[in-house]
Amino acid sequence: MTEITKHNFWDTIEEWRDPSKITFEYCGRTSLYTKMYRECKQFDGWSHTFDGKNFSEELRYNLTTLSGAPMERWEYLVEVQFSEQGDGLATEDMDYWWTVPQKEDFPTIYKFMSENPEFTNPVLSKLGPNHQLLAHNHGPEHQWLFNLSINEPVGSKFAIYPTGPIDYKPGDIYKLYVNNDHAVVNGNETRYHLLFRGGR
Ligand SMILES: [Fe+2]
Repeated sequence: MTEITKHNFWDTIEEWRDPSKITFEYCGRTSLYTKMYRECKQFDGWSHTFDGKNFSEELRYNLTTLSGAPMERWEYLVEVQFSEQGDGLATEDMDYWWTVPQKEDFPTIYKFMSENPEFTNPVLSKLGPNHQLLAHNHGPEHQWLFNLSINEPVGSKFAIYPTGPIDYKPGDIYKLYVNNDHAVVNGNETRYHLLFRGGR
């Protein structure tokens, strides 16, 4: 079988996909996504993914520890994923942004978290139209995080090796085992996903 790389991930998916392999679990859905979407579109305080050196302390912390890594991993992340020089999620300039949502700007996210206290340490991601996240994983140790879809632009797709695509609908929450390679291709509009802390 062809070796899976970040450049042939999508071209080889029909060769490798095997839905009997478990790399994600459906965790239910929320109908609050339409309000969350409105709040995302209004917000203008995003940090660009290649500006890791200037991320807030809270953003560094929530991103680094999202699937249970210790803060020591930040030094690696800022060189590889959150800087233009790194061999990270994309080779070209990338329309990809982050923020830790605060209550003033994202009241609906805080309403959701108060009703569902198992979801903590939120990080919001914003991916520009027709941009993609190349296949990557979060390290070799068994680990997971939670990923809530706020919107799914037409034509967007998400897959995890070796299972295959996840049929995300807006509002869906999945537990993702991110030690497995995963990739996103966005559709024709800005895509917002909300991540919560998992573990390992
Ligand atoms: Fe990831």
